[in-house]
Amino acid sequence: MIYVGCDHGGFDLKETVIDYLEKNNIDFTDVGCYNKESVDYPDVAKEVCTAIIEGRADKGILLCGTGIGISIAANKFKGIRAAICSDTYCAKFSRLHNDANVLCLGGRVLGPGLAREIIDVFLTTDFEGKHHIDRLLKIQKIENER
Ligand code: RB5
Repeated sequence: MIYVGCDHGGFDLKETVIDYLEKNNIDFTDVGCYNKESVDYPDVAKEVCTAIIEGRADKGILLCGTGIGISIAANKFKGIRAAICSDTYCAKFSRLHNDANVLCLGGRVLGPGLAREIIDVFLTTDFEGKHHIDRLLKIQKIENER
């Protein structure tokens, strides 16, 4: 299950995300927003990240204007590894090395064609494990200490 959410800056590109998920028969929940009226991206990040933390979602896709604000907000949640990606290389390694569980996209940055490819790489690439696990455990330790 993929949870998807956006603010007004990511609303248009969210249509591309939804279209990709539908065409690939991937179960998803769209938490909004559902129009271009101004909303606060931390609220959207909270809904998607809570679903992941509570085990209702495997991964999330979040969008705002740049992808920056919503990724900052998402990374405040324990256990969330949100990666803002504007190219397929970063999308690939966010999964291989970082086991990212949230993909953040900039609705005012990316065109639909590139966004589709980024989403595809993100959702089809597995975590490599090995020594990268130790690094993620160190991040977990920081989360628990601070
Ligand atoms: C909203 O105008 C914009 O600030 C927001 O979508 C996002 O880009 C913030 O990082």
